Amino acid sequence: SRQKPGVPEGTPVVQPLDLPSRPRRNRRSAAFRQAISETHISPANLILPVFVHDGERNIPIESMPGVDRLGWRHGLLDSVAEARSYGVNSVVIFPKTPEHLKTETGEEAFNPDGLAQRTIRLLKDSFPDLEVYTDVALDPYSSDGHDGIVRDDGVILNDETVEFLCRQAVSQARAGADVVSPSDMMDGRVGAIRRALDREGFTNVSIMSYTAKYASAYYGPFRDALASAPKPGAEGRIIPPNKKTYQQDPGNYREALREARLDEAEGTDIMMVKPGMPYLDIIRLLRDNTTLPVAAYHVSGEYAMLKAAALKGWLDEREAVLEALLSMRRAGSDLILTYYAKDAAKWMAGEH
Ligand code: PBG
Repeated sequence: SRQKPGVPEGTPVVQPLDLPSRPRRNRRSAAFRQAISETHISPANLILPVFVHDGERNIPIESMPGVDRLGWRHGLLDSVAEARSYGVNSVVIFPKTPEHLKTETGEEAFNPDGLAQRTIRLLKDSFPDLEVYTDVALDPYSSDGHDGIVRDDGVILNDETVEFLCRQAVSQARAGADVVSPSDMMDGRVGAIRRALDREGFTNVSIMSYTAKYASAYYGPFRDALASAPKPGAEGRIIPPNKKTYQQDPGNYREALREARLDEAEGTDIMMVKPGMPYLDIIRLLRDNTTLPVAAYHVSGEYAMLKAAALKGWLDEREAVLEALLSMRRAGSDLILTYYAKDAAKWMAGEH
């Protein structure tokens, strides 16, 4: 047989291997690759998390270059309008509570005129068809920096906390929230919130529960953004330095299934896994064990890693980010919460 033109000098001339299956045949052209591509992602799958504070200017977050605590109201409205222009029509809001409004029990969480509630109203008034998601947990409102109420001996109280989370969820629903997202990992909170919402007539407000939320180091930049990390308590009070008595152990797999069964039985509408990329196996586990939509949270630390490498010139940001998001879709998530939502949507549209 004669060598084909263009083959480099010195390449041996060989008989074809006897291969009935050559997977590379299915990769030979861009058109064909696209035709058989198994996983797709679109801006409609993305939810943009927004940090908002009670001041006019946007304030950069040092550990999340490119992400700001948005000013009320122009910074916030501009950012959301821009996201919508790229097809991202879902946001989850994270208000930064001024330190002087934080208390041990976090009552600011259900202040009808709190920053969260005002932000929900502003967004729904400005963009009636925007899907507004909220976070339900006490940590941004707690002077102790925990998602639940801390007893003086350091125990995080479960049932007492759930009572407060119900008030928080109802007050967010009253302000116009479309989806409330309990991120606290207290036991029984999904069912209690569902009942509290229904009792107040909010049968159409959805719950996206953080079903499998791990005690992860990847939340660091988020806690910087909201100054919400656990803080040492006053004399005589013990404040646990981490969230390991309520968030899951990163080594545990089957435990996620237990949480998923409970959340489903309690009436959640969407199940979330958090963080995203380090927990692709957990996304797949839930996908294969529920008919509910599954969400993944590409968290602040994941954003920071990609951004840092991109700023150093060590990664192609566009390619690396789109691959990360696609991987979470491939693992089985319908929705992805990501600080890259705007950039990713822009890149998907072919813009740079
Ligand atoms: C609050 C909450 C956290 C995140 C979302 N909701 C922080 C935490 O649990 O400590 C983290 C999001 C991120 O890191 O991007 N309970």
